[in-house]
Parts: sequence; C-alpha cells; structure tokens
Amino acid sequence: MSEKHPGPLVVEGKLADAERLKLESNYLRGTIKEDLQDGLTGGFKGDNFLLIRFHGMYQQDDRDIRAERAEQKLEPRHAMMLRCRLPGGIITTQQWRAIDKFAEDKTIYGSIRLTNRQTFQFHGILKKNVKPAHEMLHEVGLDALATANDVNRNVLCTSNPVESELHQEAYEWAKKLSEHLLPRTRAYAEIWWDQEKVATTDEEPILGATYLPRKFKTTVVVPPQNDVDLHANDMNFIAIAKDGKLVGFNLLVGGGLSIEHGNKATYARTASEFGYIPLEHTLAVAEAVVTTQRDWGNRTDRKNAKTKYTLERVGVDVFKAEVERRAGIKFEPIRPYEFTGRGDRIGWVKGIDDKWHLTLFIENGRILDYPGRPLKTGLLEIAKIHKGDFRLTANQNLIVAGVPASEKAKIEKLAKDHGLMNAVKPQRENSMACVAFPTCPLAMAEAERFLPQFVTKVEDVMEKHHVGEENIVLRVTGCPNGCGRAMLAEIGLVGKAPGRYNLHIGGNRIGTRIPRMYRENITEPEILASIDELVGRWSKEREENEGFGDFTIRAGIIRPVLDPARDLWD
Ligand code: HEM
Ligand code: SF4
Repeated sequence: MSEKHPGPLVVEGKLADAERLKLESNYLRGTIKEDLQDGLTGGFKGDNFLLIRFHGMYQQDDRDIRAERAEQKLEPRHAMMLRCRLPGGIITTQQWRAIDKFAEDKTIYGSIRLTNRQTFQFHGILKKNVKPAHEMLHEVGLDALATANDVNRNVLCTSNPVESELHQEAYEWAKKLSEHLLPRTRAYAEIWWDQEKVATTDEEPILGATYLPRKFKTTVVVPPQNDVDLHANDMNFIAIAKDGKLVGFNLLVGGGLSIEHGNKATYARTASEFGYIPLEHTLAVAEAVVTTQRDWGNRTDRKNAKTKYTLERVGVDVFKAEVERRAGIKFEPIRPYEFTGRGDRIGWVKGIDDKWHLTLFIENGRILDYPGRPLKTGLLEIAKIHKGDFRLTANQNLIVAGVPASEKAKIEKLAKDHGLMNAVKPQRENSMACVAFPTCPLAMAEAERFLPQFVTKVEDVMEKHHVGEENIVLRVTGCPNGCGRAMLAEIGLVGKAPGRYNLHIGGNRIGTRIPRMYRENITEPEILASIDELVGRWSKEREENEGFGDFTIRAGIIRPVLDPARDLWD
C-alpha cells in the first residue's frame, strides 16, 4: 500500500529551528555550563532550555501553583525532570540505594517514578541540584545521556526472568545497542562530571552533527511477551531462538503513537516487518536504520519527522532496500513469532536457574511513602539485603530478581510489611497512565492522578457484568503525544481538556492494532456509560477467550484500523 505513495527521499525547505539549535550547540554543549552558574533564574535560558534534553532533563514547573506564582509576580517554580539511561531496565541494589537517597534529599516531590520505557525519573530537581544528580549517577555507574530529544533513547528489553538464559542474551543486546547508538560527544562528561575537554574534534559517525530529525526508540522483544509494546517504537528486534539459544532477530521498523488532535496528517502507526537477520548483523543493521532515518527524516517539520512518516513518504520497500545496502545484507523472510500478552506476571515465579523472581505491582510506577503504604522505604529495605538486582518493566512495575530460595521468605515479609504486595484486581494491573499534571507542560487533562479512582469505577462496572476477575488493557494519556500508550490499548483515553478525553477502542490485547476514536471530547460519566454498555455486551456476546478489543471489532461496534497512515481518521 505504502509503496504506491513514494515521495522525495529528502524533504527540502526551511529547516526547523531545532536544526539550527543542534548545529550551533557544538555537539550538545551550548552554554549549559555557564548557565549553571546563573543563580538569578531557576531555569535554563535560550537554547539551553531544549539542549538539556539531550542530557536527559526536561525543564518543568509545578502547574498547580503556576497561577498563584504569576499573581505574586514570581517566575514559575522551575525544576527539572531527570531521566536515567537504563537499558533493559536492570538496576543493581547499590544503585537503587543511591537513587533512593537522592530522591529523598534533593527533589521537591521525594519520589522515584518508574516509567513505561523501563527506566526511572526524578521530578522536581532544582537547578542547584542538577549537577549533583549527574554526579550521583556517575558514582554508581549510571548516566542520563540521550534519554530525551533527537537521539536513540533508552533501549527496552522484555522483562522475563523465567527463561533467564534467553533473557540474559537479549538483555546483552539491548545494552550493546544502547552503547553503540549513543552520542559520542564528550559534552556530557565535560559538563556534568568535570572531565577534561579532549583536544580532538568531536565526531558523531552515526548520529551526525545535527543528530536525528526526531526522537528514536528501540526495543528488544522476547516472544511470547510484548511487554515493551514494540509498536510504539521506531526499531524493534524480536528475538528468535533455537533450542533456547538466541540465533537472530526479526526486525520491525516504524512504530510510533504520537498524534495531534484534529491534524489528519498525524497518525499512530504499527511497525512494519522488514525481515530476519542472524545475530552477527545486528549492530550493522541498527546503524543502517538509524543513519537512513538520519538522512531521510524530515528536518523541516517536526510533526512529520519520525521514522513512521519517513517510511510512508519513501515507501517501506525503498527504506528497507536502503538499510540492506548500507548494512551490506539481505533480509531473510520473517521467522514465525507469536505474542500472547503484554502484562507482567505479578507475584513470585521460579526461573529456570532455580532462582525466584518477585514482580511487584507499582501503581503508575510512583514510588513514594504513602500513608499506610511506605513503598519507597520498603524497596530501600529490600535493596539493603537483596543480593540479586531490580528490574524495571515497561509496565511501570518492578521485579526483585534472582532471589535464592533461602531468602524468599525474608524478602516477602519486607514487601508485605510495606504494602508492596497488597492484592489488586487484574484490571488495575493492566491499567496505565502517563505523568501529565502537575509536572508535564504539555498535559491537557489529568492522567496519573485520575487513573486510580477511575480504575475503581471501571472495576465496579466489570463486577456488575460478572467479569470482575478479568481485564481489559486500559490506558490514559494526558495529551495526544501518547506517553501513556493509549493508542495501543483496548480502551484508550486521550486527554483533550481538563476533565475531557477522546475515547478510543478496538486495539487488541497483544498490542498489534491501533484503536480508533469511538467518542470525542467526553467527560468521565460519559466514558463510564460507554464502558458500561460495551462491557455489558462483551460479557454476554463474546466468544471463548475473546478479548474486549477483538470483540468490539467482531461485533461491528468499531471498524478496525488496518492501514493507520490512511484510515485512522476516517
Ligand atoms: C511528540 C511526542 C511526545 C512528547 C512531546 C513527549 C513529551 C514528554 C514529556 C514532556 C514528558 C515528561 C512528563 C513528566 O514526567 O512530567 C514525557 C514523559 C514520558 N514520555 Fe513522552 N512525549 C511524547 C511521546 C511519547 C510516546 C509516544 C511515548 C511512549 C510510547 C512516550 C514515553 C514517555 C515516558 C515513558 C515518559 C515518562 C513518564 C511516564 O512513564 O509516563 N512519550 N513525555
Ligand atoms: S502524554 Fe502528554 S501529558 Fe502525558 S506525559 Fe506525555 S506529553 Fe505529558
């Protein structure tokens, strides 16, 4: 289909201002170092405001108190969000103890947020604490380089500790991909770690002096789990194993979820299957995909710059042939793979290595000491005695991984005593929200703060229709940028205005179909009325094991999105 619509390989025209900024930044340095000394403002000025994103930070302000501060003629209370690079989400307990202390001592909110891209963020770091944050990460072997902006960001990997050998191999590739595609500039080390400026000129052989046209996301997926939600990402390596050993990857390119309300030139898109490659070609192929997107991605319009748009403009086959040419390979036909779900298995599970793994459900990924549920203290206490590691999942949960049988009871007691193992229904476990208010500057409606009570109401509806022990993949995102991955949910709410959402349905359980808008700009009672009606029908009319999303399609309640680039908005 897309082959019929080939456009120019390179879009000519006036470059977006972000391109000037990157070019003039001297390989991401800008004047960040000087700006740090300026105590007159709590924010970063001029180009630095955007440049710090390459260093893993977003400048934000508390929107709950914005109006009050404006009235008092004060600048907004600026503070940074800082996101760590953590390929595959694996973090040692020593590292955890360090980040726990930092969150406690040096952030406004005192929390750690596990994100749905398998890392953690701090919210509310004042300017004076920004450098100490990067120093703290460095001391424990971490960094925040390239976790935001126009680069390859944190690389995800399926969190499946059961088949641990295969998982371990997949994880090693996630790490290698992350390292290989990192910016090579020394700017990060110079600014944050006071390392010397080396006299050689900077070079970015893969990313180039103006980096990528737009953000770029990579995953390594181990079927049958699609917990990383590969179709939300630009470049995806699906692990293919033979006799339990990793032998190669299926490559899928060009997924992405962000849209703009009412702008039909934007669309969420599932990734296209390029083909199979044996392991030894992995880095060359990754590099070829990235450099093709670097050279062909639209640098004149940031709303049309992601890989998904490049693919549609030049044609999937043309893009694929270019990747083959650059990597010096030919893709083999896709090897069979199958997904069964996206959720995490909460609770204990025994791995093939005889170690135990405990997946803890963390609502919204928010780790904080709540009254009666001191989650943050609980994890700290576990981190003090646990000899394995922690693994963050792409569902914002946390796995205490590699527990010997002898330690199981001790860890379980700590988890229970701190409210980390409170029973929740499957519906809550399969619900997710982005951050939105109060910190996200782009939020149009509540998400993280809205979700917990909303899920309780959905649970009541499910109970009423006798499906209280089942679940529907439910996600809320505070604006159409889509961080909460609502555009891959069975029920997705996309924030439109305070208290108002677009309701999307028709996605599937395994995350391979984009949902379509069913009702526009509606309030919570209206959303619940729709869910009540639809869940009522699902519970009565569904076929055996038929998921909610598949049912809404089969029953003709919503038309499936088959070719998102062309039919999402029809
Ligand atoms: C144009 C598109 C997008 C923009 C401008 C954007 C911007 C942002 C901003 C400003 C935040 C910080 C919010 C806060 O922590 O206070 C954020 C968080 C986040 N975004 Fe996005 N985003 C976009 C699309 C996406 C998509 C499509 C995904 C995933 C598929 C994603 C994943 C995340 C994640 C994981 C976080 C961390 C918090 C969380 O887990 O909700 N973003 N984004
Ligand atoms: S989806 Fe929108 S509101 Fe939610 S975190 Fe992303 S940018 Fe902010």
